[in-house]
Amino acid sequence: NEPAVDPFDVARDAAAVIADRSGIERHDVALTLGSGWGKAADLLGETVSEIPAADVPGFSASAVPGHSGTVRSIRLADGRHALVIGARTHYYEGHGVRRVVHSVRTAAATGASVMVLTNGAGGIKETWTPGTPVLISDHINLTADSPLEGATFIDLTDLYSARLRAVAKTVDPSLDEGVYTQFRGPHYETPAEVQMAKAIGGHIVGMSTALEAIAARQAGMEILGFSLITNLAAGIQKTPLSHTEVLEAGKQAEPVIADLLARVVAAL
Ligand code: 6GU
Repeated sequence: NEPAVDPFDVARDAAAVIADRSGIERHDVALTLGSGWGKAADLLGETVSEIPAADVPGFSASAVPGHSGTVRSIRLADGRHALVIGARTHYYEGHGVRRVVHSVRTAAATGASVMVLTNGAGGIKETWTPGTPVLISDHINLTADSPLEGATFIDLTDLYSARLRAVAKTVDPSLDEGVYTQFRGPHYETPAEVQMAKAIGGHIVGMSTALEAIAARQAGMEILGFSLITNLAAGIQKTPLSHTEVLEAGKQAEPVIADLLARVVAAL
């Protein structure tokens, strides 16, 4: 986080360690696996290497249960290589936004041109039952922060690639879409805040993906976003929210969404 440090230099250092340890010079696609999505890694292909995040410059072992804490290189059936990041740094951890988007910048530095961002999140649409995967069509960033520094006026039109969403729908035509609203967290929203998110066009509430997507766009990557609806948001669901329930819903849905994600990546 020091101003004298160039975060892109750290990302290049991280990518060099991954290339060295995996023997893979260039990755094609990168995935960040959030709550509930972890099992997808096992279905993507053959694991070439799995590196503890703590061994990769700029990464730290995730403090949040439900994250593997590793960076895996996987050879897909068609010979492409996937970088699977199971170590997300959340904005609410308070290490600064550079740390939050470091994994995305590292993915770009490994050569990946597609960034798949996944998360577990709350649903605002009542028709979504826990365990429903939803494509992210756009986002509203309510963190009041940005991963970009200085005069970096980048365009965020079609941030969540319409082309990639169409590919995902060829795999599962029943996939629904929604606007992801990122709150700072780590507390869940109040019912009034959920009503605000709904009024301004949000369908999903979460604590991660928007800032990462902005950094991925800056890096020139094409972005595909998935939320697993682990619960309905406060006030939409009538019972109080608990992280245990969120993790439990993730576990239940895990085999189904892992299979979905693996088939989508194969189709990209
Ligand atoms: Cl209801 N809100 C947020 N911000 N993140 C969540 C969630 C709700 N449920 C799971 N993750």
